[in-house]
Formats: sequence, structure tokens, C-alpha cells
Amino acid sequence: MNERSFTPAAGRFAPVRFYDPVLALTRERLWRSVLAMHVAPRPDDVIVDVGCGTGSLALLLGRVEPRATVIGVDPDPAALDVARRKAAAAAATTAACASPQWRQGMGDAVAATVGAGVADTVVSSLVLHQCPVPMKRAVLAAMYDTLRPGGRLVIADYGRQRTAAMRLAFRIVQLADGKADTQPNADGIVPRLIAGAGFQEVRESETVATVTGSLSIYVARRP
Ligand SMILES: C[S@@+](CC[C@H](N)C(=O)[O-])C[C@H]1O[C@@H](n2cnc3c(N)ncnc32)[C@H](O)[C@@H]1O
Repeated sequence: MNERSFTPAAGRFAPVRFYDPVLALTRERLWRSVLAMHVAPRPDDVIVDVGCGTGSLALLLGRVEPRATVIGVDPDPAALDVARRKAAAAAATTAACASPQWRQGMGDAVAATVGAGVADTVVSSLVLHQCPVPMKRAVLAAMYDTLRPGGRLVIADYGRQRTAAMRLAFRIVQLADGKADTQPNADGIVPRLIAGAGFQEVRESETVATVTGSLSIYVARRP
């Protein structure tokens, strides 16, 4: 993979329309709710969702706090089309939900896409495990630049796979997304990379066992 290419939401072999139904099998409501709890959006917050895909997290955060500004960024126009359709459907059926803004862009360019220092919180779910290690580093550096000083980073992704059962389950993800990009996550690289990007108070605050491996929630703060 070169620096401008990316693994699409449903992996290397499946079209994006399969992504949401498959993800629903991963205890998605549980880990997304825990993620939203850690984000704890407030009125007037600017929240940037890096690698927003089909928009589920951005839409959830907009429902939790309709007065927040939520910006979803993803390189894949097909995923963003799904996100826009879901946002339109949510607006038609939900009384109070903020419609996120959608922008096309790679994660390592997110500060250029939305503006440096604009975000109170940067969130990201299930993106870093799809990136080569140099891209993981570049995305985290760009997330840092996107946050205002004191701003928070909240990431959900496959983390260290601590048991034989979780390592076995994670092979499903490795089949879809390739071993080279995913194995460093399974080996526990993510907190080190977050700290290496300059973040402080780096914590793996939760782990959630799923049929596709163990998901971790990481939180950190830009000093
Ligand atoms: C597994 S999907 C997760 C989508 C969404 N965040 C969610 O939780 O459902 C991974 C997403 O990351 C995007 N992606 C892959 N590489 C990326 C990169 N280098 N920068 C930003 N987004 C990337 C893909 O286009 C895809 O939509």
C-alpha cells in the first residue's frame, strides 16, 4: 500500500455496503456507547471523527449532543455517500440530532482538511489497525495538530489481543485487512504511538471482547 491508498471500510475484498451489517455483529452498540461516554460531548464542542467511514460514530455523537459541531473525515467517497444517506434518514426520524459535516480526506491530512487547533476532541474508531505503521504515526501526528491545547483524543480500535481466543478471533480482521497493518495493533503498539505523537495522560481505559477480537478504548490529552 502506498501513502495515498487506504483499506476500505469492509476490508480488501468486500464492498462498503456490507460494512454496517457485518459490524453490527461485533457488539457494536456496546463499544460505541462506551466510546461516546468517554467523548462526553458538550454544547459548542468541535469534534472531528477521523476515518468516519459510514458515519455511525459521528451520527451517534450528534444525537448525544445536538449542539456540538461534528465533522466526519474519510478518504472513501463511497463510505461518505452512505454516511450522508444515514444522516438524511436520521434527520427525518429523530427530533433532535445534529447533522455532521462530511469531508473527504486522509487522516494524515486532517489538520489541513479541517484546520489546525480547531478541535476540542478528536475521535476515531477502527481506523489505525487498517494503516501501515508510518501512516498510523502520521495520522496521530495530524490528530495532535487538529486539537487545541488541552483537547482530548478518544480512539476505539483493535488493541493488544491478550488471550488465545482473542488472537484467534482477530484472524478474521487480519484476513480482511491484511496482517502487516493489523499485527502491530495486536502486539499492543497503539499506546506507544499515541505517546510518541506528543500526547499525555495516555490510557487504555476499556477493553471489549468481540467475535472479531478485543477492542480497546484509548484516551489521551494534547498538552
Ligand atoms: C473499518 S472502517 C471504520 C469506519 C468508522 N470509523 C466506524 O467506526 O465504523 C475504517 C475507515 O477508515 C478509513 N481509512 C483507512 N485508512 C485511512 C487513513 N489513512 N486515513 C483516514 N481514514 C482511513 C477507511 O476509508 C474506512 O472508512
